[in-house]
Amino acid sequence: MDKIVICGKKPLYGTIDVSGMKNAALPILFATVLVGGKFVLENLPDVNDINLTLKILTLLGAPCVRRGSATEIDTTHLDENAEIPLSLVKKMRASYYLVGAKLGRYGKAHVGYPGGCDFGTRPIDQHLKSFRTLGASAEVNGGYIDAEAKDGLYGSHIFFDMVSVGATINAILAATRAEGMTIIESAAREPHIVDLANFLNTCGAHITGAGTDTIKIRGEKNLHGCSYDIIPDMIEAGTYMTAAAAAGGRVVVRGVIPKHIESVTAKLLEMGVTVNVADDSVEIVREPDKELTRIMVKAVPYPGFPTDMQPQICALVCGAKGTSYVSEGVWDNRFRYVEELVRMGAHILVEGKTAIVEGGAPMKGTQVSAVDLRGGAAVVIAALAAEGITVIDNIELIERGYDDLVGKLAGVGADIRRVSFPD
Ligand code: UD1
Repeated sequence: MDKIVICGKKPLYGTIDVSGMKNAALPILFATVLVGGKFVLENLPDVNDINLTLKILTLLGAPCVRRGSATEIDTTHLDENAEIPLSLVKKMRASYYLVGAKLGRYGKAHVGYPGGCDFGTRPIDQHLKSFRTLGASAEVNGGYIDAEAKDGLYGSHIFFDMVSVGATINAILAATRAEGMTIIESAAREPHIVDLANFLNTCGAHITGAGTDTIKIRGEKNLHGCSYDIIPDMIEAGTYMTAAAAAGGRVVVRGVIPKHIESVTAKLLEMGVTVNVADDSVEIVREPDKELTRIMVKAVPYPGFPTDMQPQICALVCGAKGTSYVSEGVWDNRFRYVEELVRMGAHILVEGKTAIVEGGAPMKGTQVSAVDLRGGAAVVIAALAAEGITVIDNIELIERGYDDLVGKLAGVGADIRRVSFPD
């Protein structure tokens, strides 16, 4: 069993290159199923969720070959009836994009119910509602999502009841080849929605308004393959910015779109960290003895502070003097990682959807777990700032979404390694 071992209190100096964005690459990979054709995708991160998705595409009959930074995929001829084992689809959330993709291309889909990180209940009612609005039947039956559009999919007006990234993506996938015009209201505005729309438009689709809360899609059946560069991962960038602020030192996080991480930059500035923003990089500077200021932060949909950065900022404020408040505005229960920080000495009380952090308590390395992907990143950040040695298990959860986290942090001077322990 492999674990990550970190010896803390070493300031970080150097440059970290950001990989392609997992949460943009996942819907784009499933969109290749919708389009059908030959693709060259640049910048796919080498993380478990992406490799699992490439496996799903292969099982559908699409050859996928990684050549250096490019991945070649051919979805021209697929077996539309190929069933993907439940054990595979349950390993991540994004597998439900196969429903929108297959429904859009073949008029029907039978896909296992997805898994993903445990943040409390994760309903898919808005996904099903969008398929139904476009003229399909859509139900969950015995562990599978079944959707079918016997008379084809027809453009329509979709009103979401809340802002959902996944439901917006599935609605776009299903509507792209539908007959006529679809309008999606209360759409999510995350950069990965824009990236998916740009990808599909490169394939011949007609999507406008992505990045706003109203997206319009004029259905188009004649789509084709393309070459496309995935955008940089704003959550990976934010994680390393936060890690540098926690450990101290001077780190350039390179290959980013600074606009996407403005909300994280703003919080670090508020805490007294120096952030020098350039065209495609941000430099984080914190003298190791510089005291951090307490903050209040609430995770909300983009362009607000991302819920996928909530655990990491909570780990950072453990080192800030005074009481910080970290609130979760998207998920019911995204504080399971708090117990791991408390194990290291943090003073945190969770009241409803807010973590109240009494900063400045001495943190010491011990044995902790990655309870989910970003919760795993939070314990890494805490360990970099803590006294002594931290041993982190369940690291496959971290590797679902971070491309070479150990190598990238070691590259800027962290004392971090991946160690095999006997079972
Ligand atoms: C995606 C991200 C996840 C991130 C989240 C919010 C991927 C693979 N995952 O998850 O990392 O934390 O966006 O930025 O990209 N909801 C419903 N009904 C639905 C759908 C959602 O009630 O049908 C609720 C959820 O319970 C949650 C909120 O809407 O409270 C937002 O969920 P959503 O944006 O859909 O998250 P995901 O797309 O699953």
